[in-house]
Amino acid sequence: MNPLIVRVNEQNGTLKELICQPGDNLLRVLQQNKITLYAPCGGNGTCGKCTVRIHGEGLVTSCNYPVTHSIDLFLPKPQQLSILTAQHRFCYEPDTPDSDSSGTPEYGLAIDVGTTTLAFYFMELHRGNLLASTSSVNPQGRYGADVISRIQFINRDADRLKEMQQCLIDEINHQIDLVCSQCQRDTNEISKVHIAGNPTMLHILLGIDPMPIALAPFTPAFLDEQVRTSADLGIAMHPRGQIRTLPGCSAYVGADIIAGIASIKPTKQFSTYLFLDIGTNGEMALITPTQIYTCATAAGPAFEGGNISCGMGAFPGAISEFKSPGRYKTIENAQPLGVCGSGLIDCIAYMVRNQWVQPDGYLDKDLILYSDSETHTDIRIVQQDIREVQLAKAAIMAGINILLSTAGIALTDLDALFLAGGFGNFIDTDSAMAIGLVPKALRGKIISIGNTSGTGAYLSLQSEAFNLNMKQVLERCEYIELSTHEDFIMEYALNMNFE
Ligand code: FES
Repeated sequence: MNPLIVRVNEQNGTLKELICQPGDNLLRVLQQNKITLYAPCGGNGTCGKCTVRIHGEGLVTSCNYPVTHSIDLFLPKPQQLSILTAQHRFCYEPDTPDSDSSGTPEYGLAIDVGTTTLAFYFMELHRGNLLASTSSVNPQGRYGADVISRIQFINRDADRLKEMQQCLIDEINHQIDLVCSQCQRDTNEISKVHIAGNPTMLHILLGIDPMPIALAPFTPAFLDEQVRTSADLGIAMHPRGQIRTLPGCSAYVGADIIAGIASIKPTKQFSTYLFLDIGTNGEMALITPTQIYTCATAAGPAFEGGNISCGMGAFPGAISEFKSPGRYKTIENAQPLGVCGSGLIDCIAYMVRNQWVQPDGYLDKDLILYSDSETHTDIRIVQQDIREVQLAKAAIMAGINILLSTAGIALTDLDALFLAGGFGNFIDTDSAMAIGLVPKALRGKIISIGNTSGTGAYLSLQSEAFNLNMKQVLERCEYIELSTHEDFIMEYALNMNFE
């Protein structure tokens, strides 16, 4: 059979010619040629978001398109996520050594490998200075938005683990080049790289099969700290440089959460508090003076725009704030393209407050956020979107209630709820309370604390005291498996309604 040509026209005018075989899946052809296309369901054909325009054929979902003849295709505009790297005053700061720091400078890089985003922190270790921070989109997004889609993708073919690992390492090396040139340093001067991330991200990074994370009894190949050399992974740093991944607690409460908890400075003001990181999973911990209770709920991708009819990530054009019809804001004030998690929560809060949606989630009529008169298309919230949010918020509240009852602690005993991560930073807490995503009893006690996983990664790079602190956090952790917990189904059902 004669090979076929896929001519890819990028938005910046670049034209690439890819060769494939008749019948090849178009999304796979693009992935194998390192062309990033938003594909949140990982090619399962369920999200409808991996569209490209093919000359003479119009818009097609690439994962459902077998290439049967040579084609000319046009990619959508590349999207740049809003990513959080700023740190918070309630977190520790890097140590400033008292001793003479005039010796040979030492440099290190901390990386937070998130499922959606990557954050990088370049540090001058001997002085405790954070020289630069940068961020980018995790390129593995082209294989699926959440960890389960990526594990399923890997499971279909043994070579795919290597492909996914390599695309991450390529992006890490690209960002290392950028921060080094920004700080006028050479990549060879980096002696240490410390990495936080959830267990799936760390398994893929190290080239270890993550499949056990997705299957009961959910036993990852490793949870403790792993040490590798630059040669093992091909990371651009000193040839004898050391790479360390931070330790985690369970398959779904990983190094990102442990580093995050450890990064919060203990104060008299906060002795008993909740820590909540909402993404495609809701990972949470209840911290008491003696013990830490943790769990993770499968909240689903609704708050990252997945499974929502007009949902999208936090890209320019996403409606990120909504007050009432006609009063909304989009990221970078761009023309509305869809709605991201924070905007979705505002919309549903508006509908709940105005009895547009019934307490049981029944929707009388869609909420139209924006109508495009040229294309005659709407951005709207429909019944199925409400159901997705109900499932997600019920899972999170069930987790919170089970942590509290396990510890024998009432909501009123809590000093604070720390919301970690980008999503926690951008949501309106009044809206979150209005829809029952977080308890109303915590009004005035909710604090967005930034990217604590990244903070933990760079603190660990520079301070052995912080690494000891992380070990102590792990020793105090008790993990509660919700999927087999006797109260989970009841709590889940009880929290489904809007009050
Ligand atoms: S429909 Fe193609 S990636 Fe989801």
